[in-house]
Amino acid sequence: MYRSRHKQDLDRRALNFLSSIDIDDKILYYDILCTKAHVIMLHDIRLLSKDELVEIVNELDHILRHPEKLAKEGFEDIHEALEAQLIRKIGVDVGGKVQTGRSRNDQVITDIRIKARDDLIDIIFQLNNLVRLLLQKSEENLNSIMPLYTHLQQAQIGNFAHYLLAYSESLMREIDRMFSLYNRINQSPLGAGPIGGSIFPIDRKMTAKLLGFDNLISNTIDATSSRDFMIEFVSDISSIMITLSRIAEDMIIWSSQEFGFIEIHDKHASTSSAMPQKKNPDPLELIRSKTAIVIGNLTSILTILKSLPSGYSRDLQDTKVPFWTSVDIVSSSLEIVDDVIASLIVNKDVMAKASNTSYAIALDIAEVLVMNHKIPFRIAHKLVGALVNTAMNKKDGKSLKYLSNSDISEVLEKMKIKMPPGKLFQIIENSSPQKSIANRRSEGSPAPQKQIKTIKNYRLLLEKYFYEVGKKKKNVDSSKDNITNTINLIKTKPSSQQ
Ligand code: ARG
Repeated sequence: MYRSRHKQDLDRRALNFLSSIDIDDKILYYDILCTKAHVIMLHDIRLLSKDELVEIVNELDHILRHPEKLAKEGFEDIHEALEAQLIRKIGVDVGGKVQTGRSRNDQVITDIRIKARDDLIDIIFQLNNLVRLLLQKSEENLNSIMPLYTHLQQAQIGNFAHYLLAYSESLMREIDRMFSLYNRINQSPLGAGPIGGSIFPIDRKMTAKLLGFDNLISNTIDATSSRDFMIEFVSDISSIMITLSRIAEDMIIWSSQEFGFIEIHDKHASTSSAMPQKKNPDPLELIRSKTAIVIGNLTSILTILKSLPSGYSRDLQDTKVPFWTSVDIVSSSLEIVDDVIASLIVNKDVMAKASNTSYAIALDIAEVLVMNHKIPFRIAHKLVGALVNTAMNKKDGKSLKYLSNSDISEVLEKMKIKMPPGKLFQIIENSSPQKSIANRRSEGSPAPQKQIKTIKNYRLLLEKYFYEVGKKKKNVDSSKDNITNTINLIKTKPSSQQ
């Protein structure tokens, strides 16, 4: 339809190669919205009569109700298909005016931005829900004592709540990032034309307001050819996915027979065609692989953009797939992780057993020696290390609790530390994983009393986020209503007031 100077139609293979029509289904709704805002403005600056506007809008609404009836064959993209349908249905005298003062270059990026805005709001809601669930699960697991790991080796005693709170905190940062990105997405490129604007008195502020944008991307080159918000969005999505992937990795490890700390509900476990005993955490494994796909998508977008000349080039079309698939991936991944955590079975007994037999209590004992017995930390470190070493070689049991008075006095003597062995024996005897975490004083450590306060604070912050995102959703929804209302208002005006 756009071939005015060409003597020949586009070659079929070339058309198939360059067409984005199949993936553009995702923006059909947004293209119609954007077109409605544009024709309202064209009517306002008297480039469209009221009757023409009504004819165009009625046909657009018809397509919206029956998207399956939109002819797509032979078109380069949804913009061309829509305009062609309008012309076919209502004639070129009216339908042929819809693209006045507009180009696909400002149109497509407007569609992408208003879709991205909806997606962003949905993702913030999903993140909020996941954090809310994590906080509830933290509350339920304050007494689920377990070792904390560094280098995947038992490090210090903690509780399961502590891991869940760690994920909550990092996911709340993601919410924060999403909010700040929203402002940069919600700027209107519409009316910038192909690259340099138009001689028509296009009212860009009016279309921006109708579409619920906060302001304009002013410069017409920047408006049509910048995609930095995509880089940011997919980078933020990558960051969320990396967190989800690390959660998945923890869950996969902890649900193995060797750990047995948690069990993934049957409804989220896959199996083997051969080994009847298998219960595999496949959905979580796919979170890891999909994270890789998103990171790949980010790289695709970055490399597509990096050496484009300014102004629109068709390369930009190829940013849509990596962008939209990343959005779909993060959204389905958030859903799955939410489901898995909601139905997770926590084996508190197994966690407790691992904690009771663990040397992860070693640092707590060393700290007691420093605090109560004025031993320099480096010496306490060496002393407890030597005790661990002795305990590891014992036959009856390997925990520090199996050390006898004489084992202890031997170590003290060897290290020339003047301390009654009975005292050290008492310290070890009195220690327990529960006491260890209850005694933690530093901010953010897994003392349950501290965690209760943390949960309360996080809930307050989350409430604020819920309120803020709700407000954004309301604004966006009301802009959609506003377009319909404005059209209805124009329809009721007498034709003389066109
Ligand atoms: N299908 C194109 C895209 O997705 C629309 C813009 C095409 N513009 C052009 N001048 N070829 O980016």
